[in-house]
Amino acid sequence: MKDEILSCLSPQYPWGELVTYLPETDSTNTQLKRLAREGAPEGTALVSGHQTVGRGRKGRSFYSPEGMGIYLSILLRPKCEAADLMHLTCATGVAMCNAMESITGVRPGIKWTNDLVFGKRKLGGILTELGFTPQGKLDYAVIGIGINCRQQPQDFPPEIRDMAGSLAMMSGQAVSRAQVAAAMLDSLYQMRQTLLTGKDAMFTKYRRDCVTLGQPVSLVRGEEVRHAYALTVDNSGALVVRLPDGQEETVNSGEVSVRGMYGYV
Ligand code: BTN
Repeated sequence: MKDEILSCLSPQYPWGELVTYLPETDSTNTQLKRLAREGAPEGTALVSGHQTVGRGRKGRSFYSPEGMGIYLSILLRPKCEAADLMHLTCATGVAMCNAMESITGVRPGIKWTNDLVFGKRKLGGILTELGFTPQGKLDYAVIGIGINCRQQPQDFPPEIRDMAGSLAMMSGQAVSRAQVAAAMLDSLYQMRQTLLTGKDAMFTKYRRDCVTLGQPVSLVRGEEVRHAYALTVDNSGALVVRLPDGQEETVNSGEVSVRGMYGYV
């Protein structure tokens, strides 16, 4: 698999030697954070075909069955403050839309902030984790992405069958997982090139890809659920909504979850 991934990478990809394929692991993010603490260089990437403890945001698990998806994490070491990376998950979302479009010819959407979707189905997700030195300086960023590639609806467990999707379902074609992994790595490298300089241009693209905007949404904060209308995403990645009384409010992905009024997207 590793050779196949390397053969699909663009010739400009500079980090090919830093790619490791793990047929099975607990979580590529967990393993890559360990390597980051041991001093692994920027560009180190772990690609897996099966995670036993795949992790999602907000402590959720990420369903990562064998041979069906690509579970990938890459290590970045940008020389900046953590506050300068507020847009990292959004930038990764746009990069993944580019990668999936390049492979399938179909561009997925982004459900704010970090779910890749098509129609009403979730195709994949992004989990970014930052590490700090003992002095509190930013040390590394691990970006983890899981993409469902080959599943048909019956392959998903009943509890997520109606809201999960795959690249094969999105495009109506079989997809090569090695090609998907290579396209993800190529897009992540492109994203890294403009990460600290191209923020405004990236957010313009993010707003175009974000299917949450212009929709009625439910804002879920603990037990509290409020209805609102999603207006835009600001240049820190926060969602700007209009409440039923006409007031506008800016909500942060750390504090609220957003659901479509009539389903998951
Ligand atoms: C989410 O949907 O909340 C985010 C899912 C992120 C899953 C990826 S798969 C590769 C990496 N390793 C993990 O354990 N999680 C991320």
